[in-house]
Amino acid sequence: MADIKVPMEPFRIKVVEPIRPVARREREVLLGQSGFNIFGIPAEKVTIDLLTDSGTSAMSDDQWAGIMSGDESYAGSRNFFHLEDSVRSIFGFRHVIPTHQGRAAERILFGSAVKKGDSVPNNIHFDTTRANVEILGARAENLVAAEAYDPDSSHPFKGDMDVEKLKKFIDRRGVERIPLVMMTVTNNSGGGQPVSLKNIKQVSEVCAHHGIPFFFDACRFAENAFFIKKREKAYAKKSVLEIAQEMFSYADGATMSGKKDALVNIGGFITLDDDALAEKIKNLLIISEGFPTYGGLAGRDLEAMARGLKEGLDEDYLEHRTAQVAYLGALLDQAGVPVFKPFGGHAVYILADRFLPHIPRAQYPGWALTVALYREFGIRAVEIGGVMFGQKTGKGKAEVYPELEMVRLAIPRRVYTASHLRFVADSLIELHKNRDKVRGLRIVRESPFLRHFTAQLEEI
Ligand code: F0G
Repeated sequence: MADIKVPMEPFRIKVVEPIRPVARREREVLLGQSGFNIFGIPAEKVTIDLLTDSGTSAMSDDQWAGIMSGDESYAGSRNFFHLEDSVRSIFGFRHVIPTHQGRAAERILFGSAVKKGDSVPNNIHFDTTRANVEILGARAENLVAAEAYDPDSSHPFKGDMDVEKLKKFIDRRGVERIPLVMMTVTNNSGGGQPVSLKNIKQVSEVCAHHGIPFFFDACRFAENAFFIKKREKAYAKKSVLEIAQEMFSYADGATMSGKKDALVNIGGFITLDDDALAEKIKNLLIISEGFPTYGGLAGRDLEAMARGLKEGLDEDYLEHRTAQVAYLGALLDQAGVPVFKPFGGHAVYILADRFLPHIPRAQYPGWALTVALYREFGIRAVEIGGVMFGQKTGKGKAEVYPELEMVRLAIPRRVYTASHLRFVADSLIELHKNRDKVRGLRIVRESPFLRHFTAQLEEI
Protein backbone atom coordinates (compact mmCIF):
# COMPACT_ATOMS: atom_id res chain seq x y z
CA MET A 1 0.00 0.00 0.00
CA ALA A 2 1.32 3.40 -0.95
CA ASP A 3 1.91 5.83 1.87
CA ILE A 4 -0.78 8.50 1.99
CA LYS A 5 0.55 11.83 3.13
CA VAL A 6 -1.35 13.36 6.04
CA PRO A 7 -2.17 17.00 5.23
CA MET A 8 -1.03 19.35 8.00
CA GLU A 9 -3.52 22.05 8.93
CA PRO A 10 -2.12 25.50 8.07
CA PHE A 11 -3.78 27.06 11.12
CA ARG A 12 -3.85 26.82 14.88
CA ILE A 13 -7.14 26.31 16.68
CA LYS A 14 -8.25 29.17 18.92
CA VAL A 15 -11.88 28.29 19.65
CA VAL A 16 -13.26 24.79 19.99
CA GLU A 17 -16.69 23.21 19.93
CA PRO A 18 -17.22 19.83 21.62
CA ILE A 19 -18.40 16.79 19.71
CA ARG A 20 -20.51 14.68 22.05
CA PRO A 21 -20.97 10.94 21.61
CA VAL A 22 -24.40 9.68 20.55
CA ALA A 23 -25.39 6.05 21.13
CA ARG A 24 -26.33 3.90 18.14
CA ARG A 25 -29.72 3.22 19.75
CA GLU A 26 -30.45 6.93 19.88
CA ARG A 27 -29.42 7.38 16.26
CA GLU A 28 -31.78 4.57 15.29
CA VAL A 29 -34.70 6.33 17.04
CA LEU A 30 -33.80 9.67 15.45
CA LEU A 31 -33.72 8.12 11.99
CA GLY A 32 -37.23 6.76 12.50
CA GLN A 33 -38.47 10.15 13.72
CA SER A 34 -36.91 11.96 10.77
CA GLY A 35 -38.56 9.72 8.17
CA PHE A 36 -35.14 8.33 7.29
CA ASN A 37 -34.09 11.75 6.11
CA ILE A 38 -30.77 12.93 7.51
CA PHE A 39 -31.82 16.57 6.97
CA GLY A 40 -34.20 15.95 9.88
CA ILE A 41 -31.49 14.93 12.37
CA PRO A 42 -30.53 17.56 15.00
CA ALA A 43 -26.92 18.60 14.33
CA GLU A 44 -25.93 17.93 17.95
CA LYS A 45 -26.71 14.29 17.31
CA VAL A 46 -24.18 14.10 14.49
CA THR A 47 -20.58 13.07 15.20
CA ILE A 48 -18.95 14.28 11.97
CA ASP A 49 -21.13 16.46 9.77
CA LEU A 50 -20.25 16.26 6.09
CA LEU A 51 -23.73 17.22 4.91
CA THR A 52 -22.38 20.32 3.25
CA ASP A 53 -19.43 22.67 2.91
CA SER A 54 -21.93 25.53 2.68
CA GLY A 55 -22.10 27.99 5.55
CA THR A 56 -20.17 25.57 7.74
CA SER A 57 -16.73 27.21 7.52
CA ALA A 58 -14.75 28.25 10.56
CA MET A 59 -14.10 31.98 10.28
CA SER A 60 -10.64 33.40 10.91
CA ASP A 61 -9.60 35.72 13.74
CA ASP A 62 -9.55 38.52 11.17
CA GLN A 63 -13.13 37.78 10.09
CA TRP A 64 -14.30 37.71 13.71
CA ALA A 65 -12.56 41.02 14.26
CA GLY A 66 -14.46 42.30 11.23
CA ILE A 67 -17.73 41.19 12.83
CA MET A 68 -17.07 43.68 15.64
CA SER A 69 -16.73 46.49 13.12
CA GLY A 70 -20.19 45.92 11.69
CA ASP A 71 -21.94 49.15 10.74
CA GLU A 72 -25.65 48.40 11.04
CA SER A 73 -26.93 51.47 9.21
CA TYR A 74 -29.91 50.76 6.99
CA ALA A 75 -28.35 52.45 3.97
CA GLY A 76 -24.73 52.93 2.96
CA SER A 77 -23.06 50.85 5.69
CA ARG A 78 -19.26 51.05 5.45
CA ASN A 79 -19.12 47.27 5.32
CA PHE A 80 -21.04 47.33 2.05
CA PHE A 81 -18.29 49.46 0.51
CA HIS A 82 -15.66 47.04 1.81
CA LEU A 83 -17.56 44.19 0.19
CA GLU A 84 -17.93 46.14 -3.03
CA ASP A 85 -14.14 46.75 -3.13
CA SER A 86 -13.38 43.13 -2.36
CA VAL A 87 -15.76 41.75 -5.02
CA ARG A 88 -14.66 44.26 -7.65
CA SER A 89 -11.00 43.47 -7.06
CA ILE A 90 -11.63 39.80 -7.86
CA PHE A 91 -14.63 39.72 -10.19
CA GLY A 92 -14.12 43.06 -11.92
CA PHE A 93 -17.81 43.94 -12.45
CA ARG A 94 -19.29 47.34 -11.63
CA HIS A 95 -22.41 46.35 -9.72
CA VAL A 96 -22.18 44.42 -6.47
CA ILE A 97 -25.56 43.44 -5.06
CA PRO A 98 -25.60 41.52 -1.78
CA THR A 99 -28.16 38.81 -1.06
CA HIS A 100 -28.66 36.61 1.98
CA GLN A 101 -27.28 33.57 0.14
CA GLY A 102 -26.70 32.05 -3.29
CA ARG A 103 -30.22 30.93 -4.09
CA ALA A 104 -31.57 34.41 -3.42
CA ALA A 105 -29.07 35.73 -5.96
CA GLU A 106 -30.29 33.10 -8.43
CA ARG A 107 -33.95 33.82 -7.79
CA ILE A 108 -33.45 37.53 -8.29
CA LEU A 109 -31.20 37.25 -11.35
CA PHE A 110 -33.51 34.75 -13.06
CA GLY A 111 -36.59 36.66 -11.91
CA SER A 112 -35.18 39.70 -13.70
CA ALA A 113 -33.95 37.98 -16.87
CA VAL A 114 -35.82 34.69 -17.48
CA LYS A 115 -39.37 34.22 -18.84
CA LYS A 116 -41.73 31.27 -19.15
CA GLY A 117 -40.68 29.06 -22.07
CA ASP A 118 -37.00 30.13 -21.93
CA SER A 119 -34.06 27.77 -21.50
CA VAL A 120 -31.01 28.29 -19.32
CA PRO A 121 -28.00 26.09 -20.19
CA ASN A 122 -25.36 25.27 -17.60
CA ASN A 123 -22.63 22.64 -17.32
CA ILE A 124 -24.77 21.01 -14.61
CA HIS A 125 -27.32 23.04 -12.71
CA PHE A 126 -27.12 22.76 -8.96
CA ASP A 127 -30.52 21.85 -7.45
CA THR A 128 -31.33 25.43 -6.39
CA THR A 129 -30.46 26.97 -9.78
CA ARG A 130 -32.53 24.29 -11.50
CA ALA A 131 -35.47 24.93 -9.17
CA ASN A 132 -35.20 28.71 -9.59
CA VAL A 133 -35.30 28.31 -13.38
CA GLU A 134 -38.12 25.77 -13.38
CA ILE A 135 -40.33 27.72 -11.01
CA LEU A 136 -40.48 30.45 -13.69
CA GLY A 137 -41.76 27.91 -16.24
CA ALA A 138 -38.37 27.82 -17.98
CA ARG A 139 -36.12 24.85 -18.67
CA ALA A 140 -32.79 24.11 -17.00
CA GLU A 141 -30.47 22.42 -19.49
CA ASN A 142 -27.30 20.48 -18.57
CA LEU A 143 -24.66 20.60 -21.31
CA VAL A 144 -21.59 19.26 -19.54
CA ALA A 145 -19.08 17.23 -21.59
CA ALA A 146 -19.57 13.45 -21.59
CA GLU A 147 -16.52 12.75 -19.37
CA ALA A 148 -18.41 14.27 -16.46
CA TYR A 149 -20.50 11.14 -16.25
CA ASP A 150 -17.56 8.75 -16.35
CA PRO A 151 -16.37 8.38 -12.75
CA ASP A 152 -13.26 6.48 -13.87
CA SER A 153 -11.92 8.90 -16.48
CA SER A 154 -8.95 10.89 -15.21
CA HIS A 155 -9.85 13.95 -17.31
CA PRO A 156 -8.53 16.96 -15.34
CA PHE A 157 -11.49 19.24 -16.15
CA LYS A 158 -14.64 17.19 -15.95
CA GLY A 159 -16.68 20.30 -15.27
CA ASP A 160 -16.15 21.56 -18.84
CA MET A 161 -19.18 22.31 -20.94
CA ASP A 162 -19.56 20.53 -24.29
CA VAL A 163 -19.09 23.50 -26.61
CA GLU A 164 -20.47 21.72 -29.70
CA LYS A 165 -23.58 20.75 -27.72
CA LEU A 166 -23.98 24.36 -26.63
CA LYS A 167 -23.74 25.62 -30.24
CA LYS A 168 -26.29 23.06 -31.42
CA PHE A 169 -28.56 23.84 -28.52
CA ILE A 170 -28.52 27.56 -29.32
CA ASP A 171 -29.28 26.83 -33.00
CA ARG A 172 -32.14 24.53 -32.08
CA ARG A 173 -33.75 26.62 -29.32
CA GLY A 174 -33.06 30.03 -30.84
CA VAL A 175 -31.17 32.91 -29.29
CA GLU A 176 -34.37 34.69 -28.22
CA ARG A 177 -35.27 31.73 -25.96
CA ILE A 178 -31.93 31.75 -24.12
CA PRO A 179 -31.68 34.77 -21.82
CA LEU A 180 -28.35 33.65 -20.36
CA VAL A 181 -25.87 30.80 -20.17
CA MET A 182 -24.53 29.77 -16.74
CA MET A 183 -21.34 27.96 -15.79
CA THR A 184 -21.02 26.35 -12.37
CA VAL A 185 -17.50 26.40 -10.90
CA THR A 186 -16.63 23.94 -9.58
CA ASN A 187 -19.32 21.65 -10.93
CA ASN A 188 -20.89 20.57 -7.66
CA SER A 189 -23.49 18.13 -9.00
CA GLY A 190 -20.85 16.46 -11.17
CA GLY A 191 -18.34 15.60 -8.44
CA GLY A 192 -17.01 19.08 -7.61
CA GLN A 193 -14.95 19.03 -10.80
CA PRO A 194 -13.26 22.13 -12.19
CA VAL A 195 -13.80 23.91 -15.49
CA SER A 196 -10.69 24.84 -17.52
CA LEU A 197 -9.92 28.36 -18.60
CA LYS A 198 -9.76 27.06 -22.16
CA ASN A 199 -13.38 25.94 -21.88
CA ILE A 200 -14.46 29.15 -20.17
CA LYS A 201 -12.98 31.13 -23.10
CA GLN A 202 -14.70 28.93 -25.67
CA VAL A 203 -18.10 29.16 -23.99
CA SER A 204 -17.64 32.90 -23.63
CA GLU A 205 -16.89 33.22 -27.35
CA VAL A 206 -19.99 31.25 -28.33
CA CYS A 207 -22.14 33.40 -26.04
CA ALA A 208 -20.59 36.65 -27.31
CA HIS A 209 -21.10 35.53 -30.91
CA HIS A 210 -24.83 35.16 -30.25
CA GLY A 211 -25.12 38.11 -27.89
CA ILE A 212 -26.19 35.86 -24.99
CA PRO A 213 -25.06 37.00 -21.51
CA PHE A 214 -22.68 34.56 -19.81
CA PHE A 215 -22.85 34.22 -16.02
CA PHE A 216 -20.92 32.17 -13.49
CA ASP A 217 -22.47 30.29 -10.61
CA ALA A 218 -19.29 31.17 -8.73
CA CYS A 219 -19.67 29.51 -5.29
CA ARG A 220 -16.38 27.63 -5.51
CA PHE A 221 -14.45 29.86 -7.92
CA ALA A 222 -11.28 29.87 -5.78
CA GLU A 223 -11.08 26.08 -5.70
CA ASN A 224 -11.68 26.09 -9.46
CA ALA A 225 -8.92 28.66 -10.01
CA PHE A 226 -6.54 26.60 -7.86
CA PHE A 227 -7.17 23.52 -10.04
CA ILE A 228 -6.49 25.62 -13.14
CA LYS A 229 -3.15 26.61 -11.64
CA LYS A 230 -2.29 22.98 -10.89
CA ARG A 231 -3.65 21.35 -14.05
CA GLU A 232 -3.66 23.84 -16.93
CA LYS A 233 -0.08 24.30 -18.05
CA ALA A 234 -0.21 27.92 -19.19
CA TYR A 235 -1.37 29.00 -15.70
CA ALA A 236 1.17 27.27 -13.44
CA LYS A 237 3.02 30.51 -12.72
CA LYS A 238 -0.01 32.77 -12.28
CA SER A 239 -1.44 33.51 -8.86
CA VAL A 240 -4.85 32.07 -8.03
CA LEU A 241 -6.16 35.63 -7.82
CA GLU A 242 -4.93 36.40 -11.34
CA ILE A 243 -6.53 33.22 -12.61
CA ALA A 244 -9.84 34.08 -10.94
CA GLN A 245 -9.70 37.58 -12.44
CA GLU A 246 -9.11 36.08 -15.86
CA MET A 247 -12.01 33.61 -15.44
CA PHE A 248 -14.41 36.44 -14.69
CA SER A 249 -13.01 38.66 -17.45
CA TYR A 250 -14.72 36.35 -19.97
CA ALA A 251 -18.15 36.68 -18.34
CA ASP A 252 -20.93 39.24 -17.96
CA GLY A 253 -21.58 38.56 -14.32
CA ALA A 254 -21.92 36.01 -11.55
CA THR A 255 -24.09 34.80 -8.73
CA MET A 256 -22.22 33.77 -5.63
CA SER A 257 -23.02 31.89 -2.49
CA GLY A 258 -20.55 33.36 -0.01
CA LYS A 259 -21.17 30.30 2.16
CA LYS A 260 -18.55 28.40 0.19
CA ASP A 261 -15.36 30.10 -1.03
CA ALA A 262 -16.03 33.38 0.80
CA LEU A 263 -15.71 31.44 4.08
CA VAL A 264 -18.81 32.83 5.77
CA ASN A 265 -21.76 31.29 7.52
CA ILE A 266 -24.30 33.35 5.59
CA GLY A 267 -24.22 35.67 2.59
CA GLY A 268 -24.13 35.91 -1.17
CA PHE A 269 -24.24 38.42 -4.00
CA ILE A 270 -24.89 39.13 -7.64
CA THR A 271 -22.27 41.03 -9.58
CA LEU A 272 -22.53 42.29 -13.16
CA ASP A 273 -21.85 45.19 -15.52
CA ASP A 274 -25.20 45.65 -17.31
CA ASP A 275 -26.79 48.81 -15.84
CA ALA A 276 -30.33 48.10 -17.01
CA LEU A 277 -30.34 44.55 -15.67
CA ALA A 278 -28.72 45.72 -12.41
CA GLU A 279 -31.54 48.21 -11.93
CA LYS A 280 -34.19 45.53 -12.43
CA ILE A 281 -32.33 43.29 -9.99
CA LYS A 282 -32.11 46.02 -7.36
CA ASN A 283 -35.83 46.72 -7.65
CA LEU A 284 -36.65 43.07 -7.13
CA LEU A 285 -34.11 42.88 -4.32
CA ILE A 286 -35.77 45.68 -2.37
CA ILE A 287 -39.07 43.79 -2.30
CA SER A 288 -37.69 40.63 -0.76
CA GLU A 289 -34.06 40.81 0.38
CA GLY A 290 -33.70 44.42 1.40
CA PHE A 291 -32.05 47.69 0.41
CA PRO A 292 -29.20 47.23 -2.12
CA THR A 293 -26.45 48.08 0.37
CA TYR A 294 -27.32 45.19 2.67
CA GLY A 295 -29.46 42.69 0.70
CA GLY A 296 -30.75 40.67 3.63
CA LEU A 297 -27.50 40.71 5.59
CA ALA A 298 -26.27 42.52 8.68
CA GLY A 299 -23.36 44.93 8.25
CA ARG A 300 -21.17 42.50 10.18
CA ASP A 301 -22.01 39.71 7.71
CA LEU A 302 -20.99 41.93 4.80
CA GLU A 303 -17.67 42.59 6.52
CA ALA A 304 -17.00 38.89 7.16
CA MET A 305 -17.70 38.18 3.49
CA ALA A 306 -15.48 41.04 2.28
CA ARG A 307 -12.58 39.57 4.29
CA GLY A 308 -13.42 35.93 3.61
CA LEU A 309 -13.36 36.40 -0.17
CA LYS A 310 -9.69 37.33 0.06
CA GLU A 311 -8.81 34.53 2.49
CA GLY A 312 -10.49 32.04 0.18
CA LEU A 313 -7.83 32.84 -2.43
CA ASP A 314 -4.90 32.25 -0.08
CA GLU A 315 -2.78 29.58 -1.73
CA ASP A 316 -1.59 27.84 1.46
CA TYR A 317 -5.20 27.50 2.49
CA LEU A 318 -6.22 26.17 -0.95
CA GLU A 319 -3.30 23.74 -1.01
CA HIS A 320 -4.42 22.26 2.30
CA ARG A 321 -8.10 22.31 1.39
CA THR A 322 -7.64 20.30 -1.78
CA ALA A 323 -5.10 18.04 -0.02
CA GLN A 324 -7.71 17.23 2.65
CA VAL A 325 -10.20 16.13 0.02
CA ALA A 326 -7.52 14.08 -1.76
CA TYR A 327 -6.44 12.52 1.56
CA LEU A 328 -9.91 11.25 2.39
CA GLY A 329 -10.41 10.15 -1.23
CA ALA A 330 -7.11 8.25 -1.32
CA LEU A 331 -7.79 6.42 1.97
CA LEU A 332 -11.12 5.21 0.58
CA ASP A 333 -9.84 4.41 -2.87
CA GLN A 334 -6.92 2.42 -1.55
CA ALA A 335 -9.31 0.29 0.52
CA GLY A 336 -11.52 -0.47 -2.49
CA VAL A 337 -14.40 1.89 -1.67
CA PRO A 338 -15.77 3.09 -5.05
CA VAL A 339 -15.17 6.83 -5.40
CA PHE A 340 -15.52 9.39 -8.18
CA LYS A 341 -12.16 10.39 -9.69
CA PRO A 342 -10.32 12.65 -9.86
CA PHE A 343 -11.20 13.98 -6.41
CA GLY A 344 -13.04 17.31 -6.48
CA GLY A 345 -12.40 20.57 -4.71
CA HIS A 346 -14.77 20.43 -1.76
CA ALA A 347 -15.89 16.84 -1.33
CA VAL A 348 -15.32 13.17 -1.97
CA TYR A 349 -18.15 11.56 -3.89
CA ILE A 350 -18.90 7.88 -3.29
CA LEU A 351 -20.37 5.87 -6.17
CA ALA A 352 -23.33 4.55 -4.24
CA ASP A 353 -24.65 2.22 -6.94
CA ARG A 354 -21.28 0.42 -6.96
CA PHE A 355 -21.01 0.51 -3.16
CA LEU A 356 -24.46 -1.12 -2.83
CA PRO A 357 -24.92 -3.15 -6.03
CA HIS A 358 -27.74 -5.19 -4.47
CA ILE A 359 -29.99 -2.10 -4.15
CA PRO A 360 -31.76 -1.09 -7.42
CA ARG A 361 -31.95 2.59 -8.44
CA ALA A 362 -35.67 2.56 -7.65
CA GLN A 363 -34.74 1.93 -4.00
CA TYR A 364 -32.27 4.81 -3.88
CA PRO A 365 -28.87 3.27 -3.02
CA GLY A 366 -27.33 6.71 -2.38
CA TRP A 367 -29.99 7.55 0.15
CA ALA A 368 -29.61 4.12 1.73
CA LEU A 369 -25.91 4.78 2.17
CA THR A 370 -26.53 8.09 3.95
CA VAL A 371 -28.94 6.35 6.32
CA ALA A 372 -26.46 3.53 7.05
CA LEU A 373 -23.56 5.92 7.54
CA TYR A 374 -25.49 7.86 10.15
CA ARG A 375 -26.95 4.82 11.86
CA GLU A 376 -23.65 2.97 12.24
CA PHE A 377 -21.17 5.82 12.76
CA GLY A 378 -23.04 9.09 13.33
CA ILE A 379 -21.60 10.55 10.12
CA ARG A 380 -23.88 12.76 8.05
CA ALA A 381 -23.41 12.92 4.28
CA VAL A 382 -25.74 13.93 1.47
CA GLU A 383 -27.21 11.93 -1.39
CA ILE A 384 -26.68 13.44 -4.84
CA GLY A 385 -28.64 10.91 -6.80
CA GLY A 386 -32.13 9.59 -7.38
CA VAL A 387 -33.96 11.34 -4.55
CA MET A 388 -32.33 14.72 -5.25
CA PHE A 389 -32.59 14.62 -9.04
CA GLY A 390 -35.09 11.88 -9.99
CA GLN A 391 -37.87 13.17 -12.24
CA LYS A 392 -41.18 11.59 -13.13
CA THR A 393 -40.83 12.19 -16.86
CA GLY A 394 -40.58 8.62 -18.18
CA LYS A 395 -43.29 6.46 -19.79
CA GLY A 396 -46.45 6.47 -17.68
CA LYS A 397 -44.67 9.04 -15.46
CA ALA A 398 -42.05 6.50 -14.46
CA GLU A 399 -39.17 7.99 -12.54
CA VAL A 400 -36.05 8.83 -14.56
CA TYR A 401 -32.83 8.80 -12.54
CA PRO A 402 -29.79 11.01 -12.96
CA GLU A 403 -26.73 9.50 -14.62
CA LEU A 404 -24.76 9.26 -11.39
CA GLU A 405 -25.91 7.90 -8.04
CA MET A 406 -23.54 9.43 -5.52
CA VAL A 407 -23.11 10.27 -1.88
CA ARG A 408 -21.16 13.42 -1.20
CA LEU A 409 -18.82 13.74 1.76
CA ALA A 410 -18.50 17.52 1.76
CA ILE A 411 -15.67 18.87 3.86
CA PRO A 412 -16.41 22.08 5.77
CA ARG A 413 -13.62 24.63 5.41
CA ARG A 414 -11.08 24.79 8.26
CA VAL A 415 -13.33 22.76 10.58
CA TYR A 416 -12.11 19.17 10.70
CA THR A 417 -8.59 17.85 11.17
CA ALA A 418 -6.90 14.95 9.44
CA SER A 419 -7.82 12.63 12.32
CA HIS A 420 -11.51 13.43 11.84
CA LEU A 421 -11.14 12.49 8.19
CA ARG A 422 -9.34 9.31 9.17
CA PHE A 423 -12.33 8.38 11.35
CA VAL A 424 -14.65 8.96 8.38
CA ALA A 425 -12.48 6.80 6.11
CA ASP A 426 -12.24 3.97 8.66
CA SER A 427 -16.03 4.06 9.16
CA LEU A 428 -16.79 3.89 5.45
CA ILE A 429 -14.30 1.10 4.93
CA GLU A 430 -15.99 -0.91 7.66
CA LEU A 431 -19.44 -0.19 6.25
CA HIS A 432 -18.22 -1.32 2.84
CA LYS A 433 -17.20 -4.66 4.33
CA ASN A 434 -20.73 -5.09 5.73
CA ARG A 435 -22.56 -3.54 2.77
CA ASP A 436 -24.84 -6.57 2.25
CA LYS A 437 -26.80 -5.58 5.37
CA VAL A 438 -27.80 -2.14 4.01
CA ARG A 439 -31.43 -1.91 2.83
CA GLY A 440 -33.12 0.15 0.12
CA LEU A 441 -35.94 2.64 0.75
CA ARG A 442 -39.17 3.90 -0.73
CA ILE A 443 -40.53 7.46 -0.61
CA VAL A 444 -43.76 7.86 1.32
CA ARG A 445 -44.09 11.66 1.17
CA GLU A 446 -42.45 14.30 -1.01
CA SER A 447 -42.76 17.93 -2.12
CA PRO A 448 -42.80 19.01 -5.80
CA PHE A 449 -39.54 20.99 -5.64
CA LEU A 450 -36.25 20.07 -3.92
CA ARG A 451 -37.91 17.04 -2.41
CA HIS A 452 -34.75 15.68 -0.76
CA PHE A 453 -34.88 18.32 1.99
CA THR A 454 -38.24 17.15 3.36
CA ALA A 455 -39.02 13.74 1.82
CA GLN A 456 -40.19 11.01 4.21
CA LEU A 457 -39.02 7.48 3.45
CA GLU A 458 -39.27 3.97 4.84
CA GLU A 459 -36.89 1.05 4.63
CA ILE A 460 -37.83 -1.91 2.47
N1 F0G B 1 -24.90 26.88 -6.65
C1 F0G B 1 -24.15 25.84 -6.26
C2 F0G B 1 -23.19 25.23 -7.21
C3 F0G B 1 -24.26 25.38 -4.96
O1 F0G B 1 -23.51 24.36 -4.57
C4 F0G B 1 -25.17 26.01 -4.06
C5 F0G B 1 -25.34 25.52 -2.71
C6 F0G B 1 -25.91 27.09 -4.51
C7 F0G B 1 -25.75 27.50 -5.82
C8 F0G B 1 -26.90 27.82 -3.63
O2 F0G B 1 -26.28 28.54 -2.64
O3 F0G B 1 -26.97 27.49 -0.48
O4 F0G B 1 -26.11 29.82 -0.56
O5 F0G B 1 -28.33 29.28 -1.44
N2 F0G B 1 -24.92 24.42 -2.33
C9 F0G B 1 -24.99 23.85 -1.01
C10 F0G B 1 -24.43 22.48 -1.07
C11 F0G B 1 -26.33 23.92 -0.38
O6 F0G B 1 -24.61 21.75 -0.08
O7 F0G B 1 -23.79 22.11 -2.05
P1 F0G B 1 -26.97 28.79 -1.20
